[in-house]
Amino acid sequence: MQERTSPIQPAELPKILKQIHTEAQALYGRGKVASYIPELAQVPAHQFGISVALIDGSTYSAGDAFTPFSTQSVTKLFTFVMALKLVGDDLWERVGRDPSGARYNSLVQLEPENGKPRNPFINSGALVIADILTSRYTSMPNALLSELRRLTDNPHLGWNSKVAKSEIDTGHRNIAMAFFMKSYGNFNNAPELVLENYCRQCAIEMTCTQLAQATMFLANDGQDITRHGHPGEEYLSPSAARRVNALMLTCGAYDAAGDFAYRIGLPVKTGVGGGIVAIVPHVGTVAVWSPELDSTGNSVLGSFALERLVQLTGLHHA
Ligand code: DON
Repeated sequence: MQERTSPIQPAELPKILKQIHTEAQALYGRGKVASYIPELAQVPAHQFGISVALIDGSTYSAGDAFTPFSTQSVTKLFTFVMALKLVGDDLWERVGRDPSGARYNSLVQLEPENGKPRNPFINSGALVIADILTSRYTSMPNALLSELRRLTDNPHLGWNSKVAKSEIDTGHRNIAMAFFMKSYGNFNNAPELVLENYCRQCAIEMTCTQLAQATMFLANDGQDITRHGHPGEEYLSPSAARRVNALMLTCGAYDAAGDFAYRIGLPVKTGVGGGIVAIVPHVGTVAVWSPELDSTGNSVLGSFALERLVQLTGLHHA
């Protein structure tokens, strides 16, 4: 097989995505569907979707790219952006911006580090972000939904109440984390309320095509792309978009961030629903989804697909 390193040729994408879909299916059975949120264990394992959205507005997809899935931690990207827009650099007083090198739901660093999470993408960091947004909005999950509906131009996005309830009932580690951070004064609202909001946030469902669309501003210097004939608008400043990408590159795949940077070399955000979104600055975005996870909680077929896409197209971080 010929491996290419030249810039992406859109005309070749349909063939390349079809090839990746075929290759990825050979990996079914290598991972496990998340089951610590009982409702997620019901998702049929053998599904795979991929969508590439380019900043010219074109989208290329293969497999189950139009099937909604539980976005889970991928939503931490959007809540982080909302909080950054809201409080700016003050955010860094309550959450760090370094990789943790630990599992996404680890508690160990919180005690020596006085209840300040390492970064906004691990669960403790995302809970602090959810606390910030809970203080600002009457309904934090609805505020997030309206951002996502705007970014995808789709008024029908919503969360799966069964998945949200399943996590509210069983998310004991997150409950522990929230109360622990409250004891350090790094939590302003009632932990129960923030946890409920956070579980609804994580239960938001999107398809690969919607996710690729929703993150386009990160590939486009913070600017939305043209849709329905309207010119794009600034969603985030260019410098903030660059910083979000930097954080995704260093922390977006948790303790596998180094491995992802080595194999894929793109800013990513992963979720235990099996979704991964990757940003190719000034080119476009890639969303992949397949429910079976590896031991770090990242999609097996998803990371494989991104690695192959980079190999076959030469898409990489500039
Ligand atoms: O808080 C949790 O554990 C889940 N709602 C989200 C975790 C997650 O998606 C981690 N990503 N790989």
